[in-house]
Amino acid sequence: MIDTQTIRIEATENSRISELDENNIPFGKLYSDHMFTADYIDGEWQDLKITPYQNISISPANTTLHYAITVFEGLKAYRNPEGEVIIFRPQANAKRLNVSGERMCIPELPEELFMEALTELIKLDSSWVPSKPGTALYIRPFIFGTDEYIGIRPSDNFRFMIITCPVGAYYTQPVNVKIETEFSRAFEGGTGFAKAGGNYGASLYPAKLAQEKGFHQLIWTDSKTHEYIEESGTMNVMFIVGDTLLTAPTSGTILDGITRNSVLTIARDWGMKVEERRISVKEIIEAAKDGSLKEVFGVGTAATIAPIGKIGFQDEVYELSDPAEREFSIKILKELNDIRTGAVEDKYGWTY
Ligand code: COI
Repeated sequence: MIDTQTIRIEATENSRISELDENNIPFGKLYSDHMFTADYIDGEWQDLKITPYQNISISPANTTLHYAITVFEGLKAYRNPEGEVIIFRPQANAKRLNVSGERMCIPELPEELFMEALTELIKLDSSWVPSKPGTALYIRPFIFGTDEYIGIRPSDNFRFMIITCPVGAYYTQPVNVKIETEFSRAFEGGTGFAKAGGNYGASLYPAKLAQEKGFHQLIWTDSKTHEYIEESGTMNVMFIVGDTLLTAPTSGTILDGITRNSVLTIARDWGMKVEERRISVKEIIEAAKDGSLKEVFGVGTAATIAPIGKIGFQDEVYELSDPAEREFSIKILKELNDIRTGAVEDKYGWTY
């Protein structure tokens, strides 16, 4: 157990909470009053503190600025009907942070440190957790190398931080995606399974090219053949074909999404047919053509359930069913929201 006395708390005297307008919360623009910081020096995590949210100072030779030695997490806090704050599956994020970290030579962060830091920070900034339907407090834990060294080797020193921001919808409209068959997000033996900063930076250029063609995002395919579907944008992707929920299996190239796992768990509990298997582009296009492709949606923490409106492949654009009429996506979003906001009993033990 981490002694919470060791978290030094310096509370702000100038809260910015009056800047929060629950009716208009753009994603990731307004940060809450405080942040958590711990440093890994001489082989141990130390100097645990919560301070006012502020800029940090780093050397121009900082190893992360040059080599992206950084991993992150995303999770959300909600309000239940009693006004209490609920965090969704934080222990799963603590575990995944370490899975990602190992791949980037980042030392393990004890789960209890993660949980204590999160708890103390959210307690202090609880007024920043919005309550309007569709809103939440997005929580961004991250670790990065802090060495002042531009040679290539694992960093010796690191910083763990948590910042938070109230958010509304990540996507405000159905997402139109292009199936990407030239560029790759991830490859066997690479870092695709990790929430490593570099994965996201490297995804921007192909996404930008698709945006120039009128799409919002991409559906990534495998790097060897480009014949199998992997993820969409920064989300896992799911399909309803006939009466079956389909998604690609997690692997070295696909993020083990916590929302993905939650959706699959609930769908199985509902008795739905669920298949985690390789999904070919060909079968999805054929299903779009013959009408058996009922629903397509991205799943992720930021986006929750993001309906996909159109799929572009080669020179064709396939218009999918009206998102307002999609049975499963609407029902699962409601169920997830109800669990996360304490409106229904949490039989899975996911809420904290
Ligand atoms: C999340 O869903 O939490 C993500 O990591 C997406 C993010 C890049 C906004």
